[in-house]
Amino acid sequence: MNEERKGFVGNSQFDITNTVNLLRCEEISHSFDYPLFSNVSLSLNQKESIAILGISGSGKSSLLHILSTLLVPNHGKVYIDGKNIYELNENKLLSLRRNDVGVIFQSHYLFNGFSAYENIELSSVLTGKKIDNELLGILNIDNVLNKKVTELSGGQQQRVSIARVLVKKPKIIFADEPTGNLDRKSAEDVIDAIFRYIYEQNSALFLVTHDEELAKKCDSVYRLREGKLEKEK
Ligand SMILES: Nc1ncnc2c1ncn2[C@@H]1O[C@H](COP(=O)(O)OP(=O)(O)OP(=O)(O)O)[C@@H](O)[C@H]1O
Ligand SMILES: [Mg+2]
Repeated sequence: MNEERKGFVGNSQFDITNTVNLLRCEEISHSFDYPLFSNVSLSLNQKESIAILGISGSGKSSLLHILSTLLVPNHGKVYIDGKNIYELNENKLLSLRRNDVGVIFQSHYLFNGFSAYENIELSSVLTGKKIDNELLGILNIDNVLNKKVTELSGGQQQRVSIARVLVKKPKIIFADEPTGNLDRKSAEDVIDAIFRYIYEQNSALFLVTHDEELAKKCDSVYRLREGKLEKEK
């Protein structure tokens, strides 16, 4: 538990009192053909947001995958909601991935044969959570729900994939360039919808972005540079 302090999310100030830690990693190192990064440690509490900046190839997506149950690191520990995730058995890890972790991928993976609504509905059925119609309005996709995915613009597809993740009501949102295909206004709307979500649902946001302005809206900003994670805010 943290002592009482002020938090700042999405331009609205509010109290974070007795917040709970949702994500923690300790001394993560990872290599593919060459070392990507080492000694990465960070911590994310309820209602908090972290942004990760870094040049292309610095390892941002890989770090996001490690923290979101998708990639076992060469070294280090990841805790979600107090659980050491890579020590869980397969069923528990799958359950955590399905129910508690919401990943907005850099390339979204919608089902092309289905409509926008059916894509969102699928995630609601899988997790037994109700679809929040207000959210669909905020994301500005309520008018394209019956269109096939292939009939949507890139930005609309991106917003449908974000809706699909948020309807699961995950404890932590991992968003990899969620606004990459969007104009400035749509990007702001989308990020505000995500901030609203993490505040209302006591969730948290781990955001990977190239957009320095967007990053500044988060409580903390880090940069992956030359294999190290440096804190900038
Ligand atoms: N599964 C993999 N196997 C081997 N190498 C990989 C794998 N995934 C990523 N890499 C390599 O790791 C490096 C970092 O990739 P990563 O996708 O994490 O970068 P990034 O910071 O997200 O880049 P971008 O900003 O372009 O999305 C790259 O050189 C990439 O080729
Ligand atoms: Mg990436």
